[in-house]
Amino acid sequence: MGAFYRWFGRPWLRFQDSERAHRRALVGLRALSAVAPARWLLRGMYHRRSTATVTFCGTTYAHPFGLAAGMDKNAEALRGWPALGLSFVEIGGVTQHEQLGNPKPRMFRASHAQALVNRMGFNNQGSEKVAARLKSHWNRHGPLPVPLWVNLGKSKITPLDQAEQDYATTMRLLWPFATVFVVNVSSPNTPNLRELQNDDGLIRILEACRVVNQSCADEHGEAAKPVLVKVAPDLTDEQLIHVVDTARSNGADGMVLANTTLARPPTSHPADQRVFDEQGGMSGQPVKHRATEMIRVVHRHTTGSWPLVGVGGVSSADDAWEKIRAGATLVQAYSGFVFEGPSLTKSITKGLERRMRQTGYSTLEDAVGSEHRSDGVA
Ligand SMILES: Cc1cc2nc3c(=O)[nH]c(=O)nc-3n(C[C@H](O)[C@H](O)[C@H](O)COP(=O)(O)O)c2cc1C
Repeated sequence: MGAFYRWFGRPWLRFQDSERAHRRALVGLRALSAVAPARWLLRGMYHRRSTATVTFCGTTYAHPFGLAAGMDKNAEALRGWPALGLSFVEIGGVTQHEQLGNPKPRMFRASHAQALVNRMGFNNQGSEKVAARLKSHWNRHGPLPVPLWVNLGKSKITPLDQAEQDYATTMRLLWPFATVFVVNVSSPNTPNLRELQNDDGLIRILEACRVVNQSCADEHGEAAKPVLVKVAPDLTDEQLIHVVDTARSNGADGMVLANTTLARPPTSHPADQRVFDEQGGMSGQPVKHRATEMIRVVHRHTTGSWPLVGVGGVSSADDAWEKIRAGATLVQAYSGFVFEGPSLTKSITKGLERRMRQTGYSTLEDAVGSEHRSDGVA
């Protein structure tokens, strides 16, 4: 962790309401990254040239570490994330309609457990405003220097049996700007959303997205874009395998493992207990092992033939390495940035390169799923 963040950032954070601190950080990053000298400064401090390049669904990434969904829901700090060294940025969840989300407070920090509990409820400006922001960014600055992923959510007002129209409309509006789409059917904070992990809902969503994806591709003279499905860590292994089979046979190109959990670990810290008693999805260290185990299960089930993204409790190079060895090609974080600060990317990419040297792997792809192979080195 950067010394500055350890000594000043974290203690300052303790006195801040979580959502307000997040808002200030986002506004600060947007303001800094709008000014060229400040952007160069950020790059100088946090960006490093990486040798851990990796290919995912046909696109080359400078290294495997990117920003998880939820941090920049409305694509407000687009120039900031690449300056902090991230190799890809997932915006959203974006829903068809603008919505305020749940009443505040709705985001809580459990510092001892290094966990967050949130019940944001897909607060976002909606597909039209986000598309307009991306268009204006593209016109003024050109495309992002890193792949942009779009997390698709469902508006609260859209009935579950019409969910596919919500996802497909957002996809159509944001299609020109995205490298990858993530169908999020696993947020615990939109009533009944997780039911869409079931066969009927998921098949309808993937089919509607496939039709829109192909028609946008034809219109723009490009290939259709990869579509991933993001699932909940609360699925049993059996349910997970079922979702994988359904998603694969209905055209999904890979999976993001995983979203926040409804489970809570035991804690002896009263302050953490108060946070754990809050309703919502928990992220950070306590989801790490389940999320990694899910990667193992899916990698084994698909014999490593289906692209996987690991997210949940990544706050060091060792955490990222463990997910890669379990079968993830790319790794993301949200909570790690809250607890470790903006130098997280640099320390992860440095650490991954060190691991590659130690293990003798010449490319990062050699390490993907290596714990399942008899020649795989730790
Ligand atoms: C405040 C907050 C908002 C989030 N919003 C979304 C979202 O809109 N869509 C989504 O797919 N995941 C969302 N997530 C989940 C994260 O992308 C990630 O899957 C989860 O937090 C686990 O990763 P972490 O332990 O690195 O935080 C959110 C997480 C947090 C903490």
